Amino acid sequence: MAGESGIAAYYTPFLRVEKGAAREKDLRDLQQDLEFIKSQQSNICHCENADYSSSDDEAPHFYNVVPQVICKDAAEFRILVDDIQKLKKDCGFAPDEVFPQIDINMGCPFPMQAKSGRGSGILPRVDAVREILQEVASLSTPQQCHSERSDIELSATCCPTILSFKGAESSTVKADADLRQHDLRFSVKMRLGYIAPDECMTLLPLLNETPLAHITMHPRTGIQQYKGALDFAAFEAFYSQCRHPVIFNGDVTSLSDIQAIARRFPNLKGIMIGRGLLANPALAVQFQAQFPAQSQTSPLSALLKIHDSILDNYRKRLHNDAQVLDKIRPFWTYPAEAAQTQPQNSESILPKRIIKKIAKARNLSEYLDAVDDLRDTI
Ligand SMILES: Cc1cc2nc3c(=O)[nH]c(=O)nc-3n(C[C@H](O)[C@H](O)[C@H](O)COP(=O)(O)O)c2cc1C
Repeated sequence: MAGESGIAAYYTPFLRVEKGAAREKDLRDLQQDLEFIKSQQSNICHCENADYSSSDDEAPHFYNVVPQVICKDAAEFRILVDDIQKLKKDCGFAPDEVFPQIDINMGCPFPMQAKSGRGSGILPRVDAVREILQEVASLSTPQQCHSERSDIELSATCCPTILSFKGAESSTVKADADLRQHDLRFSVKMRLGYIAPDECMTLLPLLNETPLAHITMHPRTGIQQYKGALDFAAFEAFYSQCRHPVIFNGDVTSLSDIQAIARRFPNLKGIMIGRGLLANPALAVQFQAQFPAQSQTSPLSALLKIHDSILDNYRKRLHNDAQVLDKIRPFWTYPAEAAQTQPQNSESILPKRIIKKIAKARNLSEYLDAVDDLRDTI
């Protein structure tokens, strides 16, 4: 995918089964996305790689949400897929009009999930994975989904504040075009293993023979959670033998990280960024800014622009200033952490004095004052 496209896709927090059906809160969150899509229907696109047009004054919007499911077996998988499809229908969309892709979480390390055989906990359970992949094959096109890509795609994960980014897709691959003719396609997000880093290699033949849009790999084991170094050797082994496009995920927090990963693994389909984008939501804009055709936006301006649109949204939805403050203040948690842990990093953009003022604000007006101080530093 074109490097200049900034954030190409946003993966939702996982949907899970509760009392024999998709959890209601998860469906409500997804429904909000669908309502947003409805409200913007004239100027957005919902399909990865599709062309789109904008009716507003700015550059076109790009809004590509991929729902994600977590399941311990094929039965749970089927329930979640069916409930997502039903929700689309209930919201008035044709099956292939929105959410053409569903991502399967085989990477979550949280003990609650992993110990019950979901997320990374499914990786040693080869039979369960096989059955899920059989379902995938039966629900998606039998055509090959393998493709080669040379440009890097950035995607966002689990940062629900980031809904749309500017950018245009300029290169498509045939496999993606073929996939779009069908109702559904699937992708997998996984770790190297739950206990051992070679569990993924045992699963690779199964994964290779299943039609998948891509596989996102976080090169740690589940029991490592977020500790320890990324295992690049194990990633390399998987990446070089995987027949699907591979997306890298893990510890990417800066432009130089993106560049280093892209250089080291030139056949990657893309890079998925979680905490790095929460710390610096402007990372994608910085990435865009490398390309001469793109307009230059300072990281802080981009961060403030995102902040302002979220604040605007909270003000519309919430009843009073205290609630708005409660919701919006945590926006700065990750950026502040990044600024404190990497004070020498030129991409750190928040002065300590202002972080403190934001943290200490006793009401919305004091908070807005602190944010204005930030604006003045641009
Ligand atoms: C609080 C939290 C919630 C997460 N929830 C999900 C999730 O629902 N689905 C998912 O695929 N990954 C989830 N992740 C993992 C991230 O998507 C990502 O794989 C992980 O943070 C490593 O990438 P990073 O180093 O870029 O953050 C979560 C991570 C955190 C810290």
